[in-house]
Amino acid sequence: SQNRLLIKNGKVVNEDGIFDADVFVEDGVIKELGRNLIIPGGTRTIDARGRYIMPGGIDPHTHFELQMMGARSVDDFYQGTKAALAGGTTSVIDFVIPQQDEGLLEAYERYRMTADEKVCCDYALHVAVTKWDAKTREEMATLVQEHGVNSFKFFMAYRDVFMLRDPELIEAFKVCKSLGAVAMVHAENGDIIYENTKKLLAAGVTGPEGHEMSRPEEVEAEAVNRACIIANQVSCPLYVVHVMSRSAADALSDARARGVCVWGETLAAALGTDGTTYQHKCWRHAAGHVLSPPLRPDPDTPEALMKKLVVDGLQVTGSDNCTFNADQKALGKDDFSKIPNGVNGVEDRMSVVWEKGVHAGLMDPSRFVAVTSTNAARIFNLYPRKGVVAVGSDADIVVWDPSRKRIISAETHHQAVDFNIFEGMEVHGVAEYVIVGGRVCVDECQIKAVHGFGKYLETLPYPAYVYDAVEEHEKQPRGVARSEADAKRQHEEDLALTK
Ligand code: URP
Ligand code: ZN
Ligand code: ZN
Ligand code: ZN
Repeated sequence: SQNRLLIKNGKVVNEDGIFDADVFVEDGVIKELGRNLIIPGGTRTIDARGRYIMPGGIDPHTHFELQMMGARSVDDFYQGTKAALAGGTTSVIDFVIPQQDEGLLEAYERYRMTADEKVCCDYALHVAVTKWDAKTREEMATLVQEHGVNSFKFFMAYRDVFMLRDPELIEAFKVCKSLGAVAMVHAENGDIIYENTKKLLAAGVTGPEGHEMSRPEEVEAEAVNRACIIANQVSCPLYVVHVMSRSAADALSDARARGVCVWGETLAAALGTDGTTYQHKCWRHAAGHVLSPPLRPDPDTPEALMKKLVVDGLQVTGSDNCTFNADQKALGKDDFSKIPNGVNGVEDRMSVVWEKGVHAGLMDPSRFVAVTSTNAARIFNLYPRKGVVAVGSDADIVVWDPSRKRIISAETHHQAVDFNIFEGMEVHGVAEYVIVGGRVCVDECQIKAVHGFGKYLETLPYPAYVYDAVEEHEKQPRGVARSEADAKRQHEEDLALTK
């Protein structure tokens, strides 16, 4: 029958461990877990021998069809969520970013109207607050109380466009705290970037390399530190999006070690490539890697960020998928500050984290699940509906084949964009089956996405007292640094699994 599914012979991976179990799904929900289950006749069976059965990925950071810097990102809610599925992601959280003069509620309604009928996987929305005025507080309250939004993003960069100043951040964080919402920040010092950009352009530095030069690591680390301190002073939980550098990651994990309630997200882009790409001779190639904060020229950055994820210095991986084609990137041909900011990642995030983490022997499969799914589900209050393979949870499942390889390329990817920052990278680990709400959306690697199938996820706020509990819980490091011997043993186990 259409509404029943049995996934047999695989290894179930959750954030807290791995066990052998078959998974029985009915009416979109996981009904039973175990061996020798008694299953009704006519149930479709998927053989997952040698495969991992994991909670579907949650990408908490996408920008589909975002109007920004004079361009509109080319992956829309249909193609973006279809590409997400292809890579093993079953839920995304996109950002409502209001246009100039558009109210928060108006912008939210616009996103719902656009996304609801297009999405192939489930989705939720964060809302970006890009100016602070007399209506903002009430609009935020309405979004939380009536529209299932529990997180707001504030920009410390993009001066004169999106940026809030410290007194506004203080107010904003206090409002989040009172609503039980998570405050998110884009952490870079916008005033310094403004100053540096003017200087560089005046000195004749106009190419993509100027992008990184105008906003070096310490400009990011300063803002991360400042956001942590402001949030801590007003007791508001904080989530730092796209942590891109070693010093910013250090600022965040140092704050956590002092007891600040803060979570850090890094990106597939930061783990899978680096800022040496800004020196590339081909302008389009260099501009194709422009995002903010930028990739770092220090080639040790990707592995350092991966190690931060392993030891719980960082908690989440997103994609920040915000894709622009060659003609759109060319808006900045004579001025790096006009290159539309953003890169791909929604399709390849899971593969890149697996390759650089698990396959490289740095991260175990359970921590992989934590940083690609469970932690985002917990932070944005989707857990345990999402982020875990457990009885009663949504049947959002990826059957992951660690023995299969593929080579990432814009020629074969499912995204709309004409460029891929991971071009040519060989990755182990392929999403063979991807199931959303019990429906097989990737079937033996064939995509069977349905326009509009995904649901909008209402996320509830946390009551303030839960934050205190979360805070206590988060103080216990969940991931542990592994010895080389452990990593080797895990790798051999992975290989044995595939025999
Ligand atoms: O370069 C980026 N990150 N583009 C998307 C907007 C943002 O700041 O996340
Ligand atoms: Zn940002
Ligand atoms: Zn090129
Ligand atoms: Zn973003």
